[in-house]
Amino acid sequence: MPGALVRTFSLLLAPLFLCCASGLRNASWKTFEIDYSRDRFLKDGQPFRYISGSIHYSRVPRFYWKDRLLKMKMAGLNAIQTYVPWNFHEPQPGNYQFAEDHDVEYFIQLAHELGLLVILRPGPYICAEWDMGGLPAWLLEKESIILRSSDPDYLAAVDKWLGVILPKMKPLLYQNGGPIITVQVENEYGSYVTCDHNYLRFLLKRFRYHLGDDVVLFTTDGAQEEFLQCGALQGLYTTVDFGTGHNITAAFLMQRKSEPKGPLINSEFYTGWLDHWGEPHSTVKTEKVASSLYDILARGANVNLYMFMGGTNFAYWNGANTPYAAQPTSYDYDAPLSEAGDLTEKYFVLRKVIQKLKTVEAALDILCPSGPIKSLYPLTFIQVKQYFGFVLYRTTLPQDCSSPTPLSSPLNGVHDRAYVSVDGVPQGILERNSVITLNIMGKAGATLDLLVENMGRVNYGKYINDFKGLVSNLTLNSSILTGWTIFPLDTEDAVYSHLGGWDGQDDSYRGKAHSSSNYTLPAFYVGNFSIFSGIPDLPQDTFIQFPGWTKGQVWINGFNLGRYWPARGPQMTLFVPRHILKTSTPNTVIVLELEHAPCDDNDPKLCAVKFVDRPVISAAVTHNRPSKPVSQHSWLGDMW
Ligand SMILES: *[C@@H]1O[C@H](CO)[C@@H](O)[C@H](O)[C@H]1NC(C)=O
Ligand SMILES: *[C@@H]1O[C@H](CO)[C@@H](O)[C@H](O)[C@H]1NC(C)=O
Ligand SMILES: *[C@@H]1O[C@H](CO)[C@@H](O)[C@H](O)[C@H]1NC(C)=O
Ligand SMILES: *[C@@H]1O[C@H](CO)[C@@H](O)[C@H](O)[C@H]1NC(C)=O
Ligand SMILES: *[C@@H]1O[C@H](CO)[C@@H](O)[C@H](O)[C@H]1NC(C)=O
Ligand SMILES: *[C@@H]1O[C@H](CO)[C@@H](O)[C@H](O)[C@H]1NC(C)=O
Repeated sequence: MPGALVRTFSLLLAPLFLCCASGLRNASWKTFEIDYSRDRFLKDGQPFRYISGSIHYSRVPRFYWKDRLLKMKMAGLNAIQTYVPWNFHEPQPGNYQFAEDHDVEYFIQLAHELGLLVILRPGPYICAEWDMGGLPAWLLEKESIILRSSDPDYLAAVDKWLGVILPKMKPLLYQNGGPIITVQVENEYGSYVTCDHNYLRFLLKRFRYHLGDDVVLFTTDGAQEEFLQCGALQGLYTTVDFGTGHNITAAFLMQRKSEPKGPLINSEFYTGWLDHWGEPHSTVKTEKVASSLYDILARGANVNLYMFMGGTNFAYWNGANTPYAAQPTSYDYDAPLSEAGDLTEKYFVLRKVIQKLKTVEAALDILCPSGPIKSLYPLTFIQVKQYFGFVLYRTTLPQDCSSPTPLSSPLNGVHDRAYVSVDGVPQGILERNSVITLNIMGKAGATLDLLVENMGRVNYGKYINDFKGLVSNLTLNSSILTGWTIFPLDTEDAVYSHLGGWDGQDDSYRGKAHSSSNYTLPAFYVGNFSIFSGIPDLPQDTFIQFPGWTKGQVWINGFNLGRYWPARGPQMTLFVPRHILKTSTPNTVIVLELEHAPCDDNDPKLCAVKFVDRPVISAAVTHNRPSKPVSQHSWLGDMW
């Protein structure tokens, strides 16, 4: 007869996120590299992607650098991108300016101190709606000079300048303990007339000479074949740029033509647009920017928002386009941070998009530390070397499903239950032998997630070769879905490594995840309870009950107590042996609820489990097995 430990307690919702105290790492272990096998970056060996924003220190007074960088950090960005305008630093040949508003090293250090990584675009040409694209006007003293080519006079001036700026940047590289993760060579060179690959090769050599072999060097070009032909070069990682009007799939396919493997990168995703004197101010609608950004991020791509903070063309620094149209003094750009550094509506909306992606992703980083596996067709649990628990299958909707569209497993290949969502909106559950089709809705390009649960392998009869996961193809409106990203989830390690609580982590994420969470998505809930010490005979064996909970898995102090499913019955309580309970420290309960939790922000008391002194394993069942198999395939006949 178990002892009476009857106690209720509230569980705080805390999605699993974040990890790793990395600040104390030995600088000489710092690495930042491309993982070609898994299409991503690795930072200190860990999967990494950046969500960056452009800010040009030359367009913001030093007085405001910290303020603007902090606001970018608070938007959820993990990196910034900046140009280095050559003419700003060398206004006359050999006259270098690096003090005060020109102190680019201080600007980069400041970003570092605020925890932002830096993507550096040191030119020599930068475009940027900046006078002569950053090239010093004095280059034109040789009237016949061919800019951005192998013209020896141009190369000599460039070489001298690179010999000044790049050595200043070298100690600021990530590998050397600084924040600079990647460095761009030239800028949209493929859109220029010279198409001189020897010039690019010269730059590549000089960048390597000054910065070393370890830093990732890249190019950026418009996502069109003709641009990439002249802009891309072996040895420089090709990235593309495009704005909201662009077909994202087509743009990244263009990057793939140059870089069949490696991370997807949009180096300039336009949050707004440039202006000319005499033309109406350009704006880009917040909703369009938000939905494109979501699409880009949902594909796992890296992105830089150009501009996140535009600033001002002080003095004479504005550039011009042709047919001749000069740019005005304001470079506000309709960016999320206004020219004066104010937070706009766009800022808050984009912050929310970034937040949403980060929370989900951080949970996946912890649950799937080795990263996902890509496959055209679904792989089984065995094929991804996962034997128990859960695997997340992710792809994108290939078509608009604006009316309910059937998602099916025609061969009854969901083994055993799949919790289906589209862009984080729950759609329902597919279940082996009972629900093989489900209507879903969502836009083309939306993220389709199926969290597939292994409910236990067949242990009797001729079907004991029981493979788990998506063991056959899924169809959407009868077409086979392809292009899967598969995350084997290590729930035990994730639970174990979070037993000490979620201390030292960013509470701002926790708060937000709490208030915006949809309680009908699979989620982890964690709570503590204490057993007073000094009371004789405590702890005792007990039973845990789940009022209002639906179906899931529960751990106490890291001990996996098993599955609960009061919504189906007949078992309503799980046995809790006393040896796993502690009196010296609080006991931690972690609940993975797959369908629906009783939690409600307005009434936290509901978000609780209960310990009772008697088991309930014979409640009325609320679900009947289908009386006959739901599929016509005869091999299903004796599966029970
Ligand atoms: C940092 O790592 C390097 C290479 O492993 C090692 O030689 C050096 O002693 C370490 N420095 C510190 C301060 O731990
Ligand atoms: C976007 O581009 C892809 C690949 O080229 C194409 O299959 C798709 O139809 C395009 N989508 C739209 C809406 O044009
Ligand atoms: C599904 O496919 C059918 C036949 O190809 C088509 O008529 C129908 O519009 C499609 N439904 C949706 C929601 O796309
Ligand atoms: C999915 O369909 C493709 C094409 O018909 C086939 O080659 C593949 O084996 C199928 N995959 C599974 C897991 O059934
Ligand atoms: C649970 O207790 C531990 C230890 O006191 C604490 O660090 C942690 O923050 C608590 N977690 C929650 C969710 O209350
Ligand atoms: C949660 O999901 C339900 C079902 O799809 C949806 O109706 C509801 O709007 C969502 N709630 C929130 C807060 O997103």
